[in-house]
Amino acid sequence: MTESFRRACIMGHNIAYTRSPKLHGYWLRALGLNGAYDVKDLGPADFASFFMSLRANGYVGGNVTKPYKEAAFRLVDRRDAAADAIGAVNTVWYEEAALIGGNTDWSGILLSLDDLHPGWEASTRNVLVLGAGGAARAAVYAFRHRRLNVAIVNRTAARARALAKEFEPGVIAADWDAREELLAETDLLINTTSLGMAGEPPLPLALERLKSGAIVYDIVYAPLETELLQTATRLGHRTVDGLSMLLYQAVPGFARWFGVTPKVTVELRALIEAELRRPAPVS
Ligand code: ATR
Repeated sequence: MTESFRRACIMGHNIAYTRSPKLHGYWLRALGLNGAYDVKDLGPADFASFFMSLRANGYVGGNVTKPYKEAAFRLVDRRDAAADAIGAVNTVWYEEAALIGGNTDWSGILLSLDDLHPGWEASTRNVLVLGAGGAARAAVYAFRHRRLNVAIVNRTAARARALAKEFEPGVIAADWDAREELLAETDLLINTTSLGMAGEPPLPLALERLKSGAIVYDIVYAPLETELLQTATRLGHRTVDGLSMLLYQAVPGFARWFGVTPKVTVELRALIEAELRRPAPVS
């Protein structure tokens, strides 16, 4: 008897760059599953109607990306606790007739740490989050989920304060200029800003002051090896890169749609890494 064919997709606009089809396509093949993962590039006038009729359009669920994560948050029938706390939906699936919205960015952070640095939690008490945007929200949620102390620093201090207030207790905001002082007490540093990304300014941070044995996580994946990660490696710190977050955040969605929890393998990493190293298509 053959399993029924299941189809998922990524919904967004101007998303020619997305690596998600390669990623999910790899898992579908590797696991011998009968399914597909498509790209749906939807203009602002088309998103809501397509999204609300996802099942009628032939899909068991999918991912939502820029610029529709907040719209998806509003349009779903129900949200999981993480999506509610983070304020954005990036993964949807059906439970009976209801369209459920979840957020997997936070699980991407935790699953990558659990897999790449098993036991990391035992040596971690204090986390320093750089940034206060959407990715920072997912990071704060993730680390509070594991009951770690979180400090947030951000260029715009008011955003850091607002974020800390939402997630307190256990979360404090500090000035951007205090970031290097905080390093001496930091067991895990995560950069969620765009600093260090190709085309953006470098991240100004003297990593020499970071506590020895600390882990450095950079969610930036272009370039793959940011200056922050290079310095961290040189100084003997364990690291996690943005590609890892990209790969691990995809695991829960795949499991929901296709019923099997996939593995992030060396082969998958190499496949997506090769894609990322390819020059961007000329548009
Ligand atoms: P995302 O949702 O992807 O996290 P975002 O909301 O635009 O994106 O957040 C980008 C983060 O990078 C913010 O924390 C931003 O700081 P501000 O809140 O002050 O804007 C940070 N960022 C971007 N450019 C920066 C720069 N030149 N110096 C310091 N921080 C910067």
